[in-house]
Amino acid sequence: MDITLLETQFQTWKGCPLSEKANPVFGEGHFSASVMFIGEAPGEQEDKLGRPFVGAAGKFLDELLSSINLKREDVYITNVVKYRPPANRDPTDLEKDQCMPWLKLQIALIKPHVIVPLGRHALGHFLSKVTISNAHGKAHRLTDSVTVFPICHPAAALHNGGLRQALYDDFKALGEFLKTVN
Ligand code: URA
Repeated sequence: MDITLLETQFQTWKGCPLSEKANPVFGEGHFSASVMFIGEAPGEQEDKLGRPFVGAAGKFLDELLSSINLKREDVYITNVVKYRPPANRDPTDLEKDQCMPWLKLQIALIKPHVIVPLGRHALGHFLSKVTISNAHGKAHRLTDSVTVFPICHPAAALHNGGLRQALYDDFKALGEFLKTVN
């Protein structure tokens, strides 16, 4: 199976009640990317356009990617939860669980070597015993072939100038780490 077929199957899925009031946002990018970025859930712009990280947080993510010479097309970008929660509230554990099979299939097909959870919701799925404030900006080996490199959610930095620099620093560390992979 390839990821295009998976996305086609996903478009008609109704297994998460958020789908009653929101549009599906599956993910996009390179189909065999070695780096996969995983956010929390779509926001308003993402819901409108059906694409991940295309609002204000997405613009900042683009800047961060370009700071380490990466383009969106080089990586794969998706979210844990595939539909926008009402008024951008935090996704519930149930919603994360309901959407999780899709993320697992995306990972199984794309086979990234480096998974970058953006924020605590995505981090929790991969490393349950750490917090984002302790784990961000560092490589955590998950298996022989997969490393998790958590980074704070770019949306958090939109209202907190100090965090902006911290995100640039984490991306710099990610860029250095990527030079050691492959
Ligand atoms: N925040 C997320 O976590 N994901 C998006 O796609 C956009 C904003």
